This record gives sequence, structure tokens and C-alpha cells, in this order.
Amino acid sequence: FTVDWDASATEKGGWDSYMDKEIHEEPLAVSDTLLGRFSVDGDLNLDEVRIDEDVFRSIDKIVVIACGSASYAGLVAKYAIEHWVRIPVEIELAHEFRYRDPILTPRTLVVAISQSGETMDTLMALRHAREQGSRVLAICNTQGSTIPRESDAVLYTHAGPEIAVASTKAFVAQIVAAYLLGLYLAQVKGTMYRDEIRQIVDNLKAMPEKIQWVLDNQADVIAQTADRMAKAHSFLFLGRHVGYPVAMEGALKLKEIAYTFSEGFAAGELKHGPIALVDEGEPVVVIVPSPRGRDVLHNKVISSIEEVKARGAFTIAVAEVGDPDVEHYADVIFWRPECSTLLSPLTDVVPLQLFAMDMAKLKHYDIDKPRNLAKSVTVE
Ligand code: AGP
Repeated sequence: FTVDWDASATEKGGWDSYMDKEIHEEPLAVSDTLLGRFSVDGDLNLDEVRIDEDVFRSIDKIVVIACGSASYAGLVAKYAIEHWVRIPVEIELAHEFRYRDPILTPRTLVVAISQSGETMDTLMALRHAREQGSRVLAICNTQGSTIPRESDAVLYTHAGPEIAVASTKAFVAQIVAAYLLGLYLAQVKGTMYRDEIRQIVDNLKAMPEKIQWVLDNQADVIAQTADRMAKAHSFLFLGRHVGYPVAMEGALKLKEIAYTFSEGFAAGELKHGPIALVDEGEPVVVIVPSPRGRDVLHNKVISSIEEVKARGAFTIAVAEVGDPDVEHYADVIFWRPECSTLLSPLTDVVPLQLFAMDMAKLKHYDIDKPRNLAKSVTVE
């Protein structure tokens, strides 16, 4: 009696690739990153960070340093933290940071975001920030790695080990950690009412279920769309507000694993150049914010879909269930459940990750180990 046993398949838990497995672990990555960060009375409690509340209170600027996907998580953090805490948040690619003589003071909090904790560009930027007298807080997924060891404080993401080169569950966990940092700062600085913070925390706690809904209900339409698009040479991704970093992340996933030229733009930039690229049948992916209130943000994104559609683009929208406007213009829609615009990157990135993975699968590429890339970039 023999049993066929494949160690690698067992490690992947039955999934075709680590990336597939890791995307499906996103609901857990979000809930685990939220776990244990609240006191019994429901307040945010980041004691583990070990920076005094008074120090947090004195912070008057945040500078996020990161590379690749982590930098897009940092851009989401900018939108959320500036809105909640009313202090400026800059996001800087770590490899550019120290070459531009950044303005840093002891009241600047530098936030280094890194899944691996070993990215050399981010490490060199954090060393520079500390030399200038700023405090550095790491948002990191790897316990005991160099970036948290060299930082003043660390907020760990609890996504679990991420093996696939393309970051997925670590990216959503980084966004969650950044939200926690923002809400904590709002709490200690008193820039929001306790009830408002609690409301957002409740909404955050509901996100794993919403991500699960996308995984359970959208996989088929995403796979069919990948099939239809298998021969496309390039993709444009458009978004506004937090949809902009999601657009860049969606484009990065396609570049990395499907080797397909793709670029993410802020939708408002279209008319300043990129619209010239739009041609008959050209796929354009648009991240649509919540339609509730049909506010300016939503309406502007809908107009962008109309603009590219009028030029013959094949439009794929990521939109909230039941958005009546999207149905008029988009050729294909990847739906997500209702959620606030600020939290929507957690759901909206999921179909884009699945789409890139399906495209890579169709082309028989190595999903977990794309060519020319390493999981952590330990050289400058
Ligand atoms: C993401 O899919 C990429 N592999 C890459 O952009 C990555 O996010 C970047 O190199 C930063 O890595 P880190 O989070 O380990 O610092």
C-alpha cells in the first residue's frame, strides 16, 4: 500500500500556488492583524509599540518610507491618516528618500513599511531618518527581522509567512496596521470622537467577511475575464483617492507575474496624457468608489469610464454591489460588498490579485517565482 504524497502541494494546502493560498488567507490576515489591539473598554491599545503617548501626541508630521506594494499601502495610509488625524503624511519611495535631503525633526514620525523587514532600500532610508533625529516605527510582517530591530518601535502585521514573490495578504495586513496607527493617533490626539473611532473599528472588523464574499462570489467572473483578455498586450488601471494606490497595485501584480505591460494612473491624469493610449478594445480597469450619496468622487470616476469607453476601451470596473451607474458603462464588473471608501482598498485589491494570478496561470508562468524577481530585495 503506497500513498502519493507531494510535500510542496501539502505546504500549499491544496492550492495550485502559494499566491492562490495567500490570497485566500486574506480574511485571516486582516482579522489576525486586528486581534489584541483593543482594551476591554474598546479603545485602541498599542502598548506593544512602546512609544509614549506624549510622544505620539507631539507628532506633527508622518513620513512613510517603503518600496513597491508596501509603498502603495503607504499611500492608502496617507489618505486615511490625514483625514482622521489632520497632520500631513508624506509617502516616499525608500530608495529616493535620503537623496533629496528630507526635512525631518524629532516631531516627525517616520513609518517604514516592509513585509520582509530586510529590504535594503527601506533599511538605508530608516537609518538616515534616525540619524536626523526622527523616530522610526516599522510596520512589518517578519518577527525579528532587521528593519524592526533597527527601528524605535514596531507594529507587526500578522499575515503569517508570505512565500509567493507577489505580495498579497501582507499588503492588506499593512493597510490594516496603517489604519490602526491612524486611529490610535486620532485617539491620543483627540482629533476624532471616541464613537467615530469605534464605528470605524467596527467597520474594520467586518472587512474579513467582505473579502471572503469577494473570494466566494467573484472568482468565476474574474477567471472568465482573464480568459477573454489573455491576448491583451497592455492594461491601464485608473482610480481616484484610495482607488489610485489600488490601481497601481493592480498594475504591479500584472507586471510581476503575468509579464504584461500595465500602468496605474490617478484617473484625473487621463486627460493630461494617458488617454492617448486608449484605443479600440484596449482594456482599462477602473476602481469605482462607493456610490452612496453619488458624491463628486464617484461621479468623476464614472465620467472617466465614459471617457475611455467613448474611445473604444474595453472597461473592467471594480465597484460596489448594486452601483447603478457602473452598469451603464462597464463591460465587465468585479463586485465588492458595500463599505466606506477609506476601507475599500481591502476589498478592491482582491479581484485584481486574482485577475493577475489567472492571467499568469493561462500563460503557464511560474506564479510564485516570477522571472528576475526576488522575494526580498537585499541590495540597494
Ligand atoms: C510586491 O508584489 C513586490 N514583490 C514588491 O514590490 C515588494 O512589495 C517590495 O519589494 C517591498 O518588499 P518588502 O515589503 O519586503 O519591503
